[in-house]
Amino acid sequence: MRSQRVAVWGLGGHAIRNILPALAATNGVELYGVCSRTESTVGSCAQKWNCKGWTEPEPMLIDKNVDIIFLATPIGLHFEHGMRVLAAAKHFWCEKPLTCRLTDTLELLELSRSKRVSVCEGHMYLHHPQFRRILDYVRGGSVGRVVSIGCRFGIPRLEQETFRSDPLRGGGALFDVGCYPVSAIEALFPDQQMEVSYAVIGTREGSAVDTDGHAIIALSNAVRVHLEWRINCAYRNEIDIWGEKGSIFSDKVFSKSPDHVPEFRLRNAQGVEKTEYGSTGDHFSLMLQYFLGTVSDMESAEEERSRIARRAEVLERIARGAGYPVNRRQGE
Ligand SMILES: NC(=O)c1ccc[n+]([C@@H]2O[C@H](COP(=O)([O-])OP(=O)(O)OC[C@H]3O[C@@H](n4cnc5c(N)ncnc54)[C@H](OP(=O)(O)O)[C@@H]3O)[C@@H](O)[C@H]2O)c1
Repeated sequence: MRSQRVAVWGLGGHAIRNILPALAATNGVELYGVCSRTESTVGSCAQKWNCKGWTEPEPMLIDKNVDIIFLATPIGLHFEHGMRVLAAAKHFWCEKPLTCRLTDTLELLELSRSKRVSVCEGHMYLHHPQFRRILDYVRGGSVGRVVSIGCRFGIPRLEQETFRSDPLRGGGALFDVGCYPVSAIEALFPDQQMEVSYAVIGTREGSAVDTDGHAIIALSNAVRVHLEWRINCAYRNEIDIWGEKGSIFSDKVFSKSPDHVPEFRLRNAQGVEKTEYGSTGDHFSLMLQYFLGTVSDMESAEEERSRIARRAEVLERIARGAGYPVNRRQGE
């Protein structure tokens, strides 16, 4: 199969730092072009990566050489931009989360089916050897039957002003960081029902967006899950899995640099601890390789759609449970 030509839409910090280098480093994909409204950014990226540059999306959308559009615009614009990508019958790879509300996500998924193109959601850490190893521990019964999971993701205040402080562009802790712990639980237990027993979402004084949240989820296999997420606070990025025969703790489970060596603190039933180490990896590149599989294999594409839908269902249940306004979107 020839390389798939990818155009990246939205040249913010994330695309420039992580996605463009990962596209250049991944076999099977070719960075064909970049699109953003800021002419100087488009010019410098097109020059650096020797690719096309557009300051308007239309020429990118009608370019027959573009197979895939990787969307890295603000979260609150993903639905509107995603509809345009799919209407142009391009494969649609999108930053997390796909949209801010379940009905929008389902609409995009349905349109992708009718256009026979893939939709993928950028939860890169799921493809890192660290998370693969956590899956192996749990599925291999290392801790016996899992009874409880605690998972936290929180990030300090960012220096640069981005869409994150604007509720109409999808800013806020739930969509920016809360989506990670939710996706981890979905990946660990893809066959279980997830009932949100308790959810609270907070907005610290002076913030236009939600700054923190906590949810308790009861899985149909009786696992109890405690999720917590925050922005503008000290960094936490961890998972703690408690089973009948032992437990596992791992730090930097979501965001990390490619040279991060994963550590797994394993405790046996008596609480005796040992540490095991995992492999490094560039999760963005590994994610792109996984996404490529959804272009050629309809079954993988459908599996990714159903995982995106399950994550969106839980996020929406959390939002509704906490009384959070799920219907906000730019222009409404
Ligand atoms: N997986 C990860 O590790 C990770 C990390 C960070 C962020 N992300 C995700 O990546 C996406 C972008 O995040 P970011 O941190 O890069 O944000 P950002 O710095 O605000 O960049 C987003 C870019 O989108 C463009 N944009 C802004 N408003 C727009 C509009 N109305 N129409 C079209 N384009 C617009 C802007 O470029 P122009 O002004 O040039 O158009 C902006 O630079 C988000 O979905 C976020 O959740 C993922």
